[in-house]
Amino acid sequence: MNSTNGNAAFDPQMIDEIVAGLADKPGALMLVLHAVNERVGYIPVEAVPAIARALNLSRAEVHGVISFYHDFRTERPGRKIIRVCRAESCQAMGAVALATHIKERLGIDFGQTSANGDFALEPVYCLGNCACSPAIVVGDDLYGRVTPDRFDQILFSPSTSGRSR
Ligand code: FES
Repeated sequence: MNSTNGNAAFDPQMIDEIVAGLADKPGALMLVLHAVNERVGYIPVEAVPAIARALNLSRAEVHGVISFYHDFRTERPGRKIIRVCRAESCQAMGAVALATHIKERLGIDFGQTSANGDFALEPVYCLGNCACSPAIVVGDDLYGRVTPDRFDQILFSPSTSGRSR
């Protein structure tokens, strides 16, 4: 199996090949899900029936595992993933209002991708930046003391960049 690291288009035949190569191994479902996630960048919902059938599982069982693990998603990820800390320190410093603002600005909830495909929104539980709560990560960049206004600057002002603990 070759790896294209998340950029392959969804192809039912590719899913069948992945499943066929791993179906007999212990822990086959996790192996298959990781392989699909690596190749496609997410687990297409269209792939679930084929995975379930090949591994003699119900669709609900496969969906259950996908939804349990944060590494797996069923939507194509946005170009930039925005991770908002929802752990205690950030919650105490305004993360709830910040998350509400971000959801409204992007028109999506946690676990979703914006309509234009530019942004995906995910919750995280402590970014190790508690002293500068509330904290978010945009792409690979960590930001602290993020207010709704600052979030707008980070996301929509091209001059704002870099790490800011
Ligand atoms: S609680 Fe948010 S960074 Fe630690």
